[in-house]
Amino acid sequence: MADLDGTKQEKKDKEYYTDLPQESPGYFLKGSHQYDWGLKNRLAKVFNPKNGRTIMLAFDHGYFQGPTTGLERVDQTILPLEPYCDCLMLTRGIQRAVIPASTQKAIALRASGGTSMARPEYLSDEVLACSIEEAVRLNASVLAVQVFIGSEHEKATIKNMTTLIDEANRYGIAVMGVVAVGTSMERTPKYFRLATRIMAELGCHLVKCYHTDEEFDTITSCCPVPIVIAGGKKRPELDALKMAYYACEQGASGVDMGRNIFQSDAPVAMMRAVRGVVHEGLKPEEGYQMYQDLKAQETEAAPATA
Ligand code: 5RP
Repeated sequence: MADLDGTKQEKKDKEYYTDLPQESPGYFLKGSHQYDWGLKNRLAKVFNPKNGRTIMLAFDHGYFQGPTTGLERVDQTILPLEPYCDCLMLTRGIQRAVIPASTQKAIALRASGGTSMARPEYLSDEVLACSIEEAVRLNASVLAVQVFIGSEHEKATIKNMTTLIDEANRYGIAVMGVVAVGTSMERTPKYFRLATRIMAELGCHLVKCYHTDEEFDTITSCCPVPIVIAGGKKRPELDALKMAYYACEQGASGVDMGRNIFQSDAPVAMMRAVRGVVHEGLKPEEGYQMYQDLKAQETEAAPATA
């Protein structure tokens, strides 16, 4: 009997470390130190505990744009990038159809939708488009919800967000509020301070917004939870690397970048350069050099076409 054997040998074999108080270590991520274990563990899969930063690879654009340039065949264009990111931001359709269930990457699942580019004037009229049970089945670490502050559907999209937060909190899943920018919304520091702060106040665990050339540090400073930046429209690679670098220097907790990676001439090279800048301490110019070197290697290795 195991119990009795244990009692006989207790004095000899057991070590209670009575002179060592048990530590209560803090938590590495901004504003997240009072969450429960499961939520913290999920966030630690998204954000690297060594530096508090993440590279989320965003390729959920099809949820309202259909086959976006660079995403016509996600199996061909995104799977080669998977090894270099921390988290895959996607829709449940692509997750099930294309992403191997053996992936070790965290999942950020698009949870809002219901509108399309076919009727751009209605884009802000989103609903929740994924249940919490689906999120659990798909092992999501993060649920992403678009919020259109300042739009006609401001209240409804905030309600989408708070409903999702209530559901996600039951299971220890994080919610990322995505600041939507439309024709009626300005891309100014003032607007982003307002939008990100409202989302954090109402319970988002992380927030995604755009980088601004001015005052970006004031946006990150007054948002009590991590901010990641969206990449936005494709720009020259060096500019995109500068944006990622300066955003992190100015308090962002990483990037949630899509088009500037998968629409690059050399997506794998760009993905690795973004990793260099966000995680490996490279300056933007060093990241760009890395991009060019890797792109040249890819070109040399590619079979010549007739
Ligand atoms: C779509 C999104 C995208 O995930 C987001 O815009 C990031 O992608 P990109 O870097 O291409 O802007 O939220 O609404």
